Amino acid sequence: LNNGLALTPPMGWLSWERFRCITDCQKYPQECISENLIKRTADIMISEGYLNAGYNYVGIDDCWLEKTRGPDGRMVPDRERFPSGMKALSDYIHERGLKFGMYQDYGNFTCAGYPGVLGNEKLDIDTFVEWEIDYLKLDGCYIQPTDMDAGYPQFGKMLNETGRPILYSCSWPAYQEDAKILPDYAAIAEHCNLWRNWDDIEDSWASMTKIMNWFGDNQDRLAEHAGPGHWNDPDMLLIGNFGLTVDQARVQMAVWSILAAPLLMSVDLATIKPEFKEILLNRDIIAIDQDVLGKQGLRIWKKTDAGPRKGLEIWKRELSDGSLAMAFVSQRDDGIPYAANFTFEEMQLANQAFDVQDLYKDESDKLLQANQEFEVRINPSGVKFYKFIPKN
Ligand code: DGJ
Repeated sequence: LNNGLALTPPMGWLSWERFRCITDCQKYPQECISENLIKRTADIMISEGYLNAGYNYVGIDDCWLEKTRGPDGRMVPDRERFPSGMKALSDYIHERGLKFGMYQDYGNFTCAGYPGVLGNEKLDIDTFVEWEIDYLKLDGCYIQPTDMDAGYPQFGKMLNETGRPILYSCSWPAYQEDAKILPDYAAIAEHCNLWRNWDDIEDSWASMTKIMNWFGDNQDRLAEHAGPGHWNDPDMLLIGNFGLTVDQARVQMAVWSILAAPLLMSVDLATIKPEFKEILLNRDIIAIDQDVLGKQGLRIWKKTDAGPRKGLEIWKRELSDGSLAMAFVSQRDDGIPYAANFTFEEMQLANQAFDVQDLYKDESDKLLQANQEFEVRINPSGVKFYKFIPKN
């Protein structure tokens, strides 16, 4: 979408993956979807350096609404959990230099059963503009996927006509893929800044690799549609939660940056362990994700059949300075770090020497001579992530 926004993939925090629809603030005061959670998160994004690293959107996902609209037909934020109202929360966020993201659903209801926008589109857009939001995720429950090709562009047009720059995140293709309708990604890229392509991510290696594999398997019809202003979205980062080890979290950060994916954390920043925080704040990897060329990378090599190197894959992204981000991912689980060699042909490299930098900084820089085999040693369900810089 050509609205001047998302020239690099959006970065920030979104409540859903970690906090879902926790609404009982009596029982779960630190976790319920509430202004307290959002304010606490905003504060930490500043004090712990997340904003400085580029994470600038803080977003509320589903479950912020009252179950019924107000007498004037307007959306009403939950009175107990958002007692100060959305404009006050928006001000709080903006005063700290962050941007405010919100969630709604194009259908009659949100997925969690709160009132959706259908039939109230104009009123809701006006309300969002009064609240000065900067980002809207528009979900697609309770509406036919076949109605989305017209509906999402129409809603986006109204959003654009308000004159307020609002980043537009569409769930349009996710529901179509699910219904086995082939999405028109060219149209989606024209009308949305980012779009969820497929399944919701859950807090596990199994879910994460399922999504990663799907993006690799379908890259030929996805990757070309990504670029400045318009991005594929493999869903939120699980990093720092319950389901991924440190090695597995490193895989997600590496592959998501190769995919030029939005980097939306969904984690309790008040309790995240330092080793996960370090992954989220890895500047060199963030720089790969945010590379201005905006070219989505590809899974260029994968061994599926039995035998040596089974379970390994190479993901590669071209960067604006002519260098390459190269992730060597292992989906193996056989206990030891697994060593393997790769040829220039397998790595799809031009026949020349490269300076090789380890983006997770476990290894010192090295020189790879032209046509020399490259040896990597990868932890089980882990990654080695390098920058290959052509030597001249
Ligand atoms: C489905 C979306 O894909 C999720 O990311 C989340 O927004 C939920 N709906 C909320 O109900």
